[in-house]
Amino acid sequence: MTLNQSQVPLNQKNVILIGFMGAGKTTVGQLLAQKLGREFLDADLEIERLHGMPVTEIFKTMGEPAFRQMEKEYLVELCRTSREKIVSLGGGSFMQQEIREACLGSGIVYHLDLDWESWLERFESLIDTRPILQSKSLQEVQELFNSRKQVYADNHHTFAVDKLSPEEIAEEMVRRIRASWEQA
Ligand code: S3P
Repeated sequence: MTLNQSQVPLNQKNVILIGFMGAGKTTVGQLLAQKLGREFLDADLEIERLHGMPVTEIFKTMGEPAFRQMEKEYLVELCRTSREKIVSLGGGSFMQQEIREACLGSGIVYHLDLDWESWLERFESLIDTRPILQSKSLQEVQELFNSRKQVYADNHHTFAVDKLSPEEIAEEMVRRIRASWEQA
């Protein structure tokens, strides 16, 4: 069912998490969903389920453009038809204008913002499952990190996550989300 998203009350809008790979979108999203009693959707996992293949395999056998198309179809439709979800996006999703517009127009978009030094500490743990990182030098990854940060800046709320545990981030976000609902 298509919703008239402009008429969905603030406290029923989807909460959408964006940010670079490894920023903690999935972990924080799961915690937020538990704390707010909402359903959690991880866009990458949903795409894997719909297409019956891990994201790494989609990149390998069908290529990045095919994955981006799947991402766009899934997320634009989700934004058109759902409410009251907690959604974590893949780190590249927000680079597509249609996804950006759909998310900003229908949900409340939170950017989990990490600085480069903190991100570097997570790099080793990400490389095997993130095809985007595999063919790049560290300098190229840093350029990607910086250029994406500019696009992530188009959000409703930025949340610096460097010094906090996922539990602390989720707690503070819940506090802010509930406060914004009360003010609406
Ligand atoms: C990607 C990030 C990944 C996944 C895919 C591409 C990207 O998601 O969507 O590997 O382009 O940054 P996470 O941000 O959850 O790692």
